[in-house]
Amino acid sequence: MSEEKLAVLASGRGSNFKAILEHVDFNILQNVEVEVLISDNPNAKALEIAENFGIENEVMVPDDKTREEHDKEILEILREKNITTVALAGYMKIITPILVKNFKNNMLNIHPSLLPSFPGLNSQEKALEYGVKVSGCTIHYVTEEIDSGPIILQHPVPVMEEDEFEDLSKRTLIFEHRLFSKALQLHVDNRLTVNEGKVSIDYSKNWEEGWNERQEKFIRYQKKEWDNKYFEKVWT
Ligand code: GRF
Repeated sequence: MSEEKLAVLASGRGSNFKAILEHVDFNILQNVEVEVLISDNPNAKALEIAENFGIENEVMVPDDKTREEHDKEILEILREKNITTVALAGYMKIITPILVKNFKNNMLNIHPSLLPSFPGLNSQEKALEYGVKVSGCTIHYVTEEIDSGPIILQHPVPVMEEDEFEDLSKRTLIFEHRLFSKALQLHVDNRLTVNEGKVSIDYSKNWEEGWNERQEKFIRYQKKEWDNKYFEKVWT
């Protein structure tokens, strides 16, 4: 099977980007070549992660360019590198139609809420403020409206009464880190079909059993790396 060429766009900490690289390193996420990391922020921790993993990285600061001009430059790089799939992993800039159209149903975003609840910025603060009992994360295809594209995968996360932002954020990240690679694998395995804004998933031939078996290694590793308290009371 040929390798899918993936570009990751990230603006900050890069923990989702790192989790994708770990899934590739552990041979859990297969037939994916992470070609390049692009960041709009020269101080993004994601850039250090790229360096550590030997991944080519580009800083593309928008400066005084329009959003369209900036996205055109990104598109040029993606084309040069024959990128077929784009992952937005904590990318804080709004994507303009020029990029969206070129990567229709080939650009995935992660959002830390159960969409369509709490789209946009500060979704977890808003969820806490609202007092929801269940939050979670969503992976979806990117469309021109923010956080509104066809939903690929979601995972619920309980909200505890005593939760501060950091608690909910960390408890959710555990699942973000697992879900993004699963969605990417479904995508590159051609298991996803978008019809009238809805994604149907072909789990035939024990796809999910195979995935869960491979991902066990990552989950074991995660449990060593993360404070145990974030694994309490979660639904797996
Ligand atoms: C994550 O919570 C992601 O869902 C959101 O931004 C955050 C990025 O975190 N879109 P990281 O940079 O991947 O650590």
